[in-house]
Amino acid sequence: MVSLRDPELLRHQAFVAGEWHGGAQQVAVTNPATGETLAEVARCAPDDAERAIAAATDAAPRLKASLAGDRAAVLHRFADLMAEHAADLALLLTSEQGKPLAEARGEIAYAAAFLRWFAEEARRAYGEVIPPTKSGQRLLVLREPVGVAAAITPWNFPSAMITRKLGAAYAAGCPLVLKPAEATPLSALALRVLATRAGIEPGALQVLTGDASDAAPLGKVLTRSPLVRKLSFTGSTEVGKILLRQCADTVKKVSLELGGNAPFLVFDDADVDAAVEGCLVAKMRNAGQTCVAANRILVQDAVHDAFVERFAARMAAMKVGPGTEPGVTVGPLVDAPTFDKVREHVADAQDLGATAVLGGEPHALGRTFYTPTVLTGVTGDMKMCREETFGPVAGVQRFKDEDEAISTANATRAGLVAYFYSRDVGRAFRVAEALEAGMVGVNTGLVSSPVAPFGGVKESGLGREGSRHGLDDWTELKYVALSLG
Ligand code: SIN
Repeated sequence: MVSLRDPELLRHQAFVAGEWHGGAQQVAVTNPATGETLAEVARCAPDDAERAIAAATDAAPRLKASLAGDRAAVLHRFADLMAEHAADLALLLTSEQGKPLAEARGEIAYAAAFLRWFAEEARRAYGEVIPPTKSGQRLLVLREPVGVAAAITPWNFPSAMITRKLGAAYAAGCPLVLKPAEATPLSALALRVLATRAGIEPGALQVLTGDASDAAPLGKVLTRSPLVRKLSFTGSTEVGKILLRQCADTVKKVSLELGGNAPFLVFDDADVDAAVEGCLVAKMRNAGQTCVAANRILVQDAVHDAFVERFAARMAAMKVGPGTEPGVTVGPLVDAPTFDKVREHVADAQDLGATAVLGGEPHALGRTFYTPTVLTGVTGDMKMCREETFGPVAGVQRFKDEDEAISTANATRAGLVAYFYSRDVGRAFRVAEALEAGMVGVNTGLVSSPVAPFGGVKESGLGREGSRHGLDDWTELKYVALSLG
């Protein structure tokens, strides 16, 4: 059991049509570090999703008519409450997701920062006045909320991926029906409790919980309803494509933040120590379970051995264990399928000729704990280069020159983020421009920030979250041509 300072934050019910809703059946939420059941939460049925959409439809005109300044004040209050309850929120997050407590605290701060960012952006959702083409004419562009929106969020950032969408939705004046990941509903429900305290009306945020088998039926209702005008999804490319197809019939606005398969390039003019530290962040945040994780590490011949030796030493120093234990830097993987995929990728790489210079096996703690691993001799045909591994495994490839590095980095259908290390200014611009990615980290292993546009190109997604562009997908432009007569 999780023991919270404020026990009201631990909810077992979904939140539908203004009420906490127990559901006819429940699903267990498990602590991946121990296997213990943390709570039994409601399983929502498709008609619960319909009721949520109806309540959101009812709330939509009120939200649209509300003042931006009032919505901003609510979002700031919500962020204050997150800060006040950060210890409880982080403990819930670590308990259901597994990441170390220090990282969970970092995620709560990151999540609250999206609410603050969008509180400010709410006031800046400007329209336009266009110089007329005839006398007596006024041409206006109004920015209006898109209407009822749905969000489907992942388990790897159970709070931040919600506030990144909810902050934008509320700032724009859109009611949101949220379907959090089945592995991590407790963080979402705690946010709904705080949303109430902050003054977010019931219909403006509803939370549909369920087990893995409920995801598709609930997703179908959210994507097929003509009343829902926008879907925002963060998760796998495979599921994103299904949702995109389902949204086609009602021509919804769709924002997708999908898989990354990020390249991380280290050129021979790089500061190798800095590259090692950057790679550690890009690879090991959340035990490698991020869409922006460095998935293909490409190192130029001249610095390959020095990089591998220093990186492996830093990986070896990481402490694996339950996220609530002091000093732990690598928690368990979230579930058995995630763990099995990591094992499969390592076995496949070794079968095809890669060598483990560190790890290469499950951790002695058992369950879904996996030893931080460094493999060398990795090649593009291995599964770990073709798919995201989503685990604490770094596969290192060699390259000879800039052209080879760029063509290898771009040889993927994904394009979320790319990282590279170089001290040559000319190369920094050349490579940043040549990489096919929505985001590029130059001499840094972390690009995520509420102030910057997060999103990918190619099959990594559609749209941008955060930044001054973050409201675009939650608003429509209405052009008004006025003749003064
Ligand atoms: C993700 O992994 O989907 C998001 C990570 C981030 O915001 O940094």
